[in-house]
Amino acid sequence: MASEAFARWAARTEATLERLLPDPAQEPSRLHAAMRHATLGGGKRMRPLLVYAAGTALGADEAALDAPAAAVELVHAYSLVHDDLPAMDDDDLRRGRPTVHVAFDEATAILAGDALQTLAFSALAEADAPAALRVDWVRTLASASGVAGMCGGQALDIDATGSGGRPATAGDASEPLARLQRMHALKTGALIRAAVRMGALGGGADAGTLAQLDRYADALGLAFQVRDDLLDIEASSETLGKTAGKDVAQAKSTYPALLGVDGARARLEQLATEMRAALAGIGGDCALLDALGEMAVRRNH
Ligand code: IPE
Ligand code: IPE
Ligand code: MG
Ligand code: MG
Ligand code: MG
Repeated sequence: MASEAFARWAARTEATLERLLPDPAQEPSRLHAAMRHATLGGGKRMRPLLVYAAGTALGADEAALDAPAAAVELVHAYSLVHDDLPAMDDDDLRRGRPTVHVAFDEATAILAGDALQTLAFSALAEADAPAALRVDWVRTLASASGVAGMCGGQALDIDATGSGGRPATAGDASEPLARLQRMHALKTGALIRAAVRMGALGGGADAGTLAQLDRYADALGLAFQVRDDLLDIEASSETLGKTAGKDVAQAKSTYPALLGVDGARARLEQLATEMRAALAGIGGDCALLDALGEMAVRRNH
């Protein structure tokens, strides 16, 4: 059953993170504690689940996927710590707890993000896997995290904040949507694509399978952020474990801002269809990838 596999993979992720993260009893203990606060005991673990689902669909052992699963979660956790900083989204609640800069302080939050990121790449470099695979994993995660991925997308997000994504002067009506899609594909989609790809690489995927899985992951990544945008409007802070209603308050560029709530919902349905079509083109048993796609589209937190 899907939920059993997901619970087992989440537990594997927690155990790997626990093993990788530094001991809070050792100096610099404040930094170590902040890294653990950001990473352990929270979150849906969607990106690790995607690593395991893609890898095992192609025949990889779960244990062989522990390092990439933890690595992508470490980069994700770092991205959240920095996303919440006063200079970015200025949030005080994350995963039902105070954000790192609130629970600790801003300098510690910046350093914790930095150290989580480098820990991700150490975990990949030191994984028990062939050198060529470790290099492929490092390349995949690095490119998804940097200017061509999450950081680049966050920069576009900051540029668009305040205008709701609409340009000051009228122009081609399709342009704001194209820009928004690109921002979402980079800030959220890139790490999700990397998660699927690292799993697939661990399962020895051929070029054709990788291309199909990229199609699936691109639709899922966009859907994941469109759903996030909708939840910011429709869910409570309590259910989300983060502050609801922030996107309107900060005039963020989002799908509901541009297309309306119904338009954003319709886009989600199109993306669900795209995911299913991409998975239909793959040989292995894709039931769990399909279930994760559904989760991205229908999740309530
Ligand atoms: C939140 O990600 C930030 C986005 C990229 C939308 P998640 O919704 O995966 O957050 P956690 O990991 O479950 O806390
Ligand atoms: C964040 O997008 C994407 C990241 C790269 C962290 P949001 O700013 O919408 O994420 P939340 O809503 O704070 O989780
Ligand atoms: Mg943000
Ligand atoms: Mg945010
Ligand atoms: Mg959001």
